Amino acid sequence: MAERVILITGASSGMGYAATQLFAQHGWEVYAGARRVEKIPTGSVIHPLYLDVTDADSRLQFVKDALADGLRVDVLLNNAGYGEFGPLEEVSVEKVHKQLETNLVGASELTKLVLPQMRQQGSGRIVNNSSIGGDVYSPLGGWYYVTKRGLNVWSDVLDTEIRQFGLRSVIVAPGGTESSWLDIAMDNVSDNLKPDSPYTTLTDATRKLLGGMLNTSEATAKDLAKVFYRAATERHPKRRYYYSIADRLLSRLARNHPSIYHESMSFLVNALTKNK
Ligand SMILES: NC(=O)c1ccc[n+]([C@@H]2O[C@H](COP(=O)([O-])OP(=O)(O)OC[C@H]3O[C@@H](n4cnc5c(N)ncnc54)[C@H](OP(=O)(O)O)[C@@H]3O)[C@@H](O)[C@H]2O)c1
Repeated sequence: MAERVILITGASSGMGYAATQLFAQHGWEVYAGARRVEKIPTGSVIHPLYLDVTDADSRLQFVKDALADGLRVDVLLNNAGYGEFGPLEEVSVEKVHKQLETNLVGASELTKLVLPQMRQQGSGRIVNNSSIGGDVYSPLGGWYYVTKRGLNVWSDVLDTEIRQFGLRSVIVAPGGTESSWLDIAMDNVSDNLKPDSPYTTLTDATRKLLGGMLNTSEATAKDLAKVFYRAATERHPKRRYYYSIADRLLSRLARNHPSIYHESMSFLVNALTKNK
């Protein structure tokens, strides 16, 4: 069987790192990109490449390097991302742009670079690592949730456009998963909070809420890599993939009963804020 080829973004840590190892174990050629290229796993079928998804030249070079070996591209896993957390009033417009460029525009621009090759092959799949945060939300993560909800819509529209060529675009929506993600998001809260901010009480309460919710989750990056593998290889892919039933149900609740979700979240945050 010809080599199967995957391009993975955000391969230096967490789920992208685990996915790079898993696809390599299954014999795929893995073109693995991140800014900290030295942290990408190594192996005979792994090609670590520098990639900053927010930089057009870097995106182009990444795809050029991957295609230079003359192989196919079966899957692009758009995984790179982070949480630009902080109160909406206090997140600077520069940080807003960075969040949109990393989590959403980077994925869409990389996809544009691989679609011609996939169309020529008559097969290929875009697997997008979104989040249950595409449906649910909390204080402090406003722009992060915007990018994940946006990624969901973008993937669905893309799927309707490329199916005619034998290609598909799907979403994986993890809930809390062991990785560097929470620490980075919480560091960003501290960076974004202004001195004498009126949001310190809310921020402390929300940190507690998110820390509690994410730390009780038992999902590991390796668990999510297995979900990516299913999303990449199932003959008839689904529109959405979840790791757990709890993630699926929570997303469904927020989607189908937005007012109930909204009031419950507000009640919870209010109670935590009052307890401070
Ligand atoms: N962990 C969770 O609870 C959770 C839940 C739902 C969804 N997610 C999503 O899952 C994805 C993976 O996150 P993770 O949990 O595995 O977190 P992580 O351990 O922090 O890994 C994030 C990866 O993204 C890469 N990245 C960030 N900015 C980048 C840029 N500009 N260019 C290229 N790569 C960049 C990082 O690489 P470099 O810094 O080396 O570039 C790193 O490899 C993200 O999209 C995240 O939003 C996470």
